[in-house]
Amino acid sequence: MGKPKHLAQAFSNSDFSLSRLLGGMTPAEFLADYWQKKPLLVRQALPGFGDWLDRDSMSELACRDDAESRLVRVNRGRWLLDHGPFQGEELDELPQRGWSLLVSGVNHLLPEADRLLHSFNFIPYARLDDLMVSYAPPGGGVGPHFDSYDVFLIQGKGRRRWEISGQEDLELVEGAPLRILKHFTADESWILEPGDMLYLPPKFAHNGVALDDCMTWSVGFRAPTAQEMMSQFLIYLQDHLEVPGMYADPERRFSRHPGEIPTDLLRWVEGVIRTAAWGKAEIGDFLGRYLSEPKAHIFFDPPSRPLSPAKFTQAITQRGIHLDPRTQFLYRGQAFFMNGERIECAGVMAIALRELADKRELPGAKLLDQELISLCHHWYASGYISLT
Ligand code: SIN
Ligand code: CO
Repeated sequence: MGKPKHLAQAFSNSDFSLSRLLGGMTPAEFLADYWQKKPLLVRQALPGFGDWLDRDSMSELACRDDAESRLVRVNRGRWLLDHGPFQGEELDELPQRGWSLLVSGVNHLLPEADRLLHSFNFIPYARLDDLMVSYAPPGGGVGPHFDSYDVFLIQGKGRRRWEISGQEDLELVEGAPLRILKHFTADESWILEPGDMLYLPPKFAHNGVALDDCMTWSVGFRAPTAQEMMSQFLIYLQDHLEVPGMYADPERRFSRHPGEIPTDLLRWVEGVIRTAAWGKAEIGDFLGRYLSEPKAHIFFDPPSRPLSPAKFTQAITQRGIHLDPRTQFLYRGQAFFMNGERIECAGVMAIALRELADKRELPGAKLLDQELISLCHHWYASGYISLT
């Protein structure tokens, strides 16, 4: 698809300032008083934001098979949910009111959306999830609900009425295809205009209804559950533990109970399982790989005719590089995790890679080390980074 209208200029034109984004607060003040604690409404957090995407460009995104899209409708009080990819015609034929089209992971599809998501860099990227965009005609929304994670709701085009509630009753409508609160009593309500932003901590009930052609951008976060970490760590161990030996029983004695599991076999297995050992190093390695692993539907587009290493070296030092919007690049100490793969390095190379991970781009002047250039060529040929 072609680049949606206005998108390329939109973010740079929006005159971004972190202090304005946070309603005049420093990140430290916001984190101390609001983050994971209470909602915050910021008028004109991103002035000039209104032109981003429109119904047509949203429909194009929702038809892509590398996008996660959903269509929410209400029919005679019953909520309906369909998953994309959609056909252009079915989206063109929707009624004039009362539905909502949502596309998740827009940051993977559009570089400008990736920049917007990563401008929330006062929170570690390991906590960032994705940027979801919704389009709704008047009356459209996804119903009163709560999210399990923090979210910043940024108003793009049009206006939306947001009602919020600190209610403790989080009972959901049974049998509905999406999470709808059975009872919702608003404590506060605001009309958000283009560029306004509402921050909500996890589990805070909310309901947004479009007042006109309305686009909402949700910067969403992730927080692993203890259960998810334990199961994923066990999967990691399965791939990383090498356990020698095989059970043998040359001392076997005759037993009258062949159906019974022999005690010596049980003891032997107990001993094997007790040899499994892990420490901080293994847990750190697991976490880096897990957090940087792209989601299952993400595929990279390696260049069809990559530059030779010599041409690449010349180009990279002049132009610099940036991470592909789909790339997850994290680090801890000397361990770097590029889309689930681990690299160890120290010295100048580590300094450059930390900057690349923090800023998601690196100027040519910092790309002079030959080992670093070879690594970048490998990442470029895999589609993980691009020349700027
Ligand atoms: C929407 O954009 O309509 C929903 C966003 C949300 O409530 O999290
Ligand atoms: Co929500």
